[in-house]
This record gives sequence, C-alpha cells and structure tokens, in this order.
Amino acid sequence: MTTPFGLRDDVYRRPLATALERIELGEGWTCADVGAGGGEVSVALAEVVGATGRIFAVDVDPGARNAVAARAAAFAQVFAITQAGEELSLPVPVDLAFCRFLLLHVASPIRVLTKMAAAVAPGGCVVAQEPITSAGRIDGEPFSYPEARHPDIGALLPGLCLEAGLEIVDAWAEAPAGAGPGPVASYLESLTGVDPEMDSIVLPPLVTVVARRPSR
Ligand SMILES: C[S@@+](CC[C@H](N)C(=O)[O-])C[C@H]1O[C@@H](n2cnc3c(N)ncnc32)[C@H](O)[C@@H]1O
Repeated sequence: MTTPFGLRDDVYRRPLATALERIELGEGWTCADVGAGGGEVSVALAEVVGATGRIFAVDVDPGARNAVAARAAAFAQVFAITQAGEELSLPVPVDLAFCRFLLLHVASPIRVLTKMAAAVAPGGCVVAQEPITSAGRIDGEPFSYPEARHPDIGALLPGLCLEAGLEIVDAWAEAPAGAGPGPVASYLESLTGVDPEMDSIVLPPLVTVVARRPSR
C-alpha cells in the first residue's frame, strides 16, 4: 500500500495522511516537525512542500540531527535543529507546526503546545498526533508504557489545544489493528521485543487534533 506521503511502512501513516490532506498542505509551505526523531515525517512533509518550502526538524536529542541529516540528504529544504520543544524558537513564523508521539514524553505538554502555537503565523496550523496508550490491546489486554511521562496524553489533547489558545478545526482518533505476521506485529515487536505471534493487536489509538492559531 502506498500513500502520497511516502510512508508505506509506517503503521500510523493513515492519520498522518488524513491530517495533511485536511490542512491542504501544499508547495511552498514552511513547517516545523517538533520531536522529529529520525525525520520520517519531516521527509514526508518535504516531499509535499517541494523545493520552495522549508522544514525545520526540531528535536532535543542531538543524535536526531544526524539521523535527520542522513534521511533527508536529498532534501535541501530540511533543516535539523537541536532544541527542546519547551524552548521552541524558529528563524521565521511557520505555516504548520506538527508533532507526533512527542507530548507523551515531555515534562509539560501545555508548554510545548503553547510554544508551537506561538511559532505559527496568525491563521497558521498546528497538528498534534498523540496516543491513548492504555486504549491499545494485545490479545485483549491493555497496553502499558511506564517509561512515558503521559502515556494517555491523546485523551487530553483537544482540551490542551484550546488551553494553548488554538481553535480546533477537526479532531479524531484512529488505531491500526492486525493479527499474525505483518507491519502491525513487526511494529509491536520493535517496541517490546516480543513477537505477538497470532494474537490480536489494536495499537494505541492516535488522537489527531488539527488546530489553527486565530488570525488576530
Ligand atoms: C517517539 S519519538 C517520535 C518521532 C517522530 N515524531 C515520529 O512520530 O516518528 C519522540 C522524539 O521526541 C524527542 N523529544 C523528547 N522530548 C523532547 C522535547 N522536550 N523537545 C523536543 N524533542 C523531544 C525525542 O528525542 C524523540 O526523538
């Protein structure tokens, strides 16, 4: 299966594709991918915004910079920045500030969202995609993720966006599911080190909020 965003093997590609279609991401947009990790989403954004756009791939981990540089080598418009989301400060206002699987890890999700809201130009978009970990199931049993600071942050995301001064344009939750060999089982094994074999899996639903900074 392919998507317009080159995320064939990303089990969470559908909510990303839906969100980017919903905001009509297009050529020439300037975007920030906050908590960019290895840069998978940054590259997907770069493919859409083209040579006239710009992507700031922001991550607190200096190691992410090299990973993004390697993954995005073909995209001159991707700039890797080592910075905490809590201190987000970009050279220019952006059209889109995006995060996925970030807020569950940060000390203060509202501070990061408020910084993201401030980083977009008036009328610009903020898209956040965060999980409700405990709503996922393996063989009927709930997921747990004790290492995450806020494993169920997705359940609070719409309210947090309002608190950050954003207007909600759209919001929904979506979960990949499967059983037996395939991308869902492989993803789970990469997270846990355990092969789920033929168990039924519902991965943690990802809550997406598409929001806008008020125009004035
Ligand atoms: C689970 S990864 C998500 C990567 C990517 N967003 C994705 O969806 O594939 C979380 C990333 O957030 C980064 N991170 C954690 N806390 C952060 C913070 N306070 N500010 C910026 N990045 C942070 C981590 O270094 C890591 O690369």
